Amino acid sequence: MSTPVSVGHRGGATVAPTLPARRPPAPGGGSPLLELIGVSKTYGVEEAAVHALAGSDLVVTTGEYVAIMGQSGSGKSTLMHILGCLDTPSSGTYLLDGQDVSGMDEAALAWVRNHSIGFVFQQFHLLPRLPAWRNVELPLLYAGRRSRRRRQERAEAALAAVGMGDRLSHRPNQLSGGQQQRVAIARALVTDPAIVLADEPTGNLASDQATEVLAIFEAMHAQGRTVVVITHDPDVAHRAQRLVRIRDGRVLSDEALAR
Ligand SMILES: Nc1ncnc2c1ncn2[C@@H]1O[C@H](COP(=O)(O)OP(=O)(O)OP(=O)(O)O)[C@@H](O)[C@H]1O
Ligand SMILES: [Mg+2]
Repeated sequence: MSTPVSVGHRGGATVAPTLPARRPPAPGGGSPLLELIGVSKTYGVEEAAVHALAGSDLVVTTGEYVAIMGQSGSGKSTLMHILGCLDTPSSGTYLLDGQDVSGMDEAALAWVRNHSIGFVFQQFHLLPRLPAWRNVELPLLYAGRRSRRRRQERAEAALAAVGMGDRLSHRPNQLSGGQQQRVAIARALVTDPAIVLADEPTGNLASDQATEVLAIFEAMHAQGRTVVVITHDPDVAHRAQRLVRIRDGRVLSDEALAR
C-alpha cells in the first residue's frame, strides 16, 4: 500500500482516488500517523491563561479507529484542532506522518487540511442556501479542482456513498438532522482523505440517526482510513478499537477495546 498521507504542499494538480478506493491497512498495524509529544495549548495570558492541553502525548497509527472521551472543558476539541492542523501547539511537538507540523508554512498546512483530513462537527456547519451537492463540492473548490462537472460527479458519488443520493438538491433546512450530518460526512469524504476527525458527530442526533452515522464511520475505517472520534457517549466510543480518556488537558488512560 502506498503511503496514505504525504504531508506538505505538493504544488499543482493532485491525484486523489475516488471513493471508495482505499484499501484496508496491512495486517499487523500501521506506522505512527498522528503523534503528539508533550503538546500543550494555552489560551490567553497571565491570570487569564487557560491550559487547554497540558503536556499531552498520543500516537495514532495508520488505519486505527480511536475514540476520545473526557469531561466538558478537558481539552478534546483543542486536541482535535491541533490534530487537524486547524490550530498549533503552544509547546511540544506534533508529527503528522513523521513530519513536524511546526515546520510547515500556511500553504502546506492548508494543503494537508484540504487533501489529507476530513472534518465532521456536531453542528454540521452546512451552508444553508446551498443544495446538498454544492455543500459537498466545497472542499474540491478549496482544493483548486477546476472541472465543475468533475466536482459535481464526485460530490454526487460522495452523497450516494452515505445514502443521500436521492437528496442531492435538497437544502439543509429540507433535511433531517441525521441527513444533514450525512451530507457533512460526504463533504468530509469527497477529497478522499486518509484521516477523518470527528468532534461529537452524533451529539445532535436521535439514536437511530446516530446508528446510521456510526455505520458510515465503520465503513470509512474498513476502507483503510484513520478515524478519530470525540464523544461523550460510551456507546459511540465502544464502536472504536481504542479508547483514550483525557482529563485536564492530559491523557488519563488509553485502552484497546474488545470488538
Ligand atoms: N479559543 C479559546 N480561547 C480561550 N479559551 C479556550 C478557547 N478554546 C477553548 N478554551 C478553553 O480551553 C479548555 C478546553 O476547551 P475544549 O473546547 O478543548 O474542551 P472540550 O473537552 O472540547 O469540551 P466540550 O466537551 O464541552 O466540547 C476550556 O476550559 C475552554 O474554556
Ligand atoms: Mg469540545
